[in-house]
Amino acid sequence: MSPGGPPRVMGHSIERVRVKRTSLMVLGGLAAGYWMRTHPSACPYSLRFVLRFPRRALARERLLEILAPEPGERVLELGPGTGYYTLGVAAALDGGTLDIFDISQEFLDDLVRKARDQGIDNITPTQGDARALPYGDDTFDAAYLVAVLGEIPDEDAALRELARVLRPGGRLVVGESLASGDPHAVLFGKLRSRGEHAGFTLEDRQGGPLAYFARFRIP
Ligand SMILES: C[S@@+](CC[C@H](N)C(=O)[O-])C[C@H]1O[C@@H](n2cnc3c(N)ncnc32)[C@H](O)[C@@H]1O
Repeated sequence: MSPGGPPRVMGHSIERVRVKRTSLMVLGGLAAGYWMRTHPSACPYSLRFVLRFPRRALARERLLEILAPEPGERVLELGPGTGYYTLGVAAALDGGTLDIFDISQEFLDDLVRKARDQGIDNITPTQGDARALPYGDDTFDAAYLVAVLGEIPDEDAALRELARVLRPGGRLVVGESLASGDPHAVLFGKLRSRGEHAGFTLEDRQGGPLAYFARFRIP
């Protein structure tokens, strides 16, 4: 303790130094978050551990409920990453096919290996960019993407492509969670207007505006 007062660092009280340091950290965090929200980029394979955290609002059962995959359907998953949802959906498609499409070949290779180990053989991987899907018009009965849309530099282009490759009456489920700290999460209001602009009709939403699954349909 300095003589006659509280402890000091280079003339400043320790309390003041702490407040300054905390403020700088908060400002730094906000600036980084803002930068990430305004500069969409794909989640790198090296950060795959973050995809293993448990998810309450975006639980697997909730996705299955709102997507309602039917045996024999052909479904597209955009940006499966480590496959948090993939194997459960593939299993529900009994006799159908799940196409997985990701910009990262490493994620796809891992996931195909995992599926093979579990005896799941109805998954077809394709690498590419969601802004230009390499599938014909009206190919899929349903499509879904979770924590992906906000990473794509042109969300409208990706939604237009999804509308194109879904058959009339096909459904699209989008999952997003700002509540989990995902800096690229798309807020519900924004998704709704972008989806409608791309030709979808909003049908249902599970969860709140900060963590939700939304289901759209091609009229
Ligand atoms: C945050 S991860 C989410 C993974 C998974 N959906 C989940 O919920 O665990 C985003 C995924 O989208 C993929 N991705 C990002 N941008 C993409 C793009 N433009 N085209 C295709 N995939 C993309 C990433 O490679 C990654 O696998």
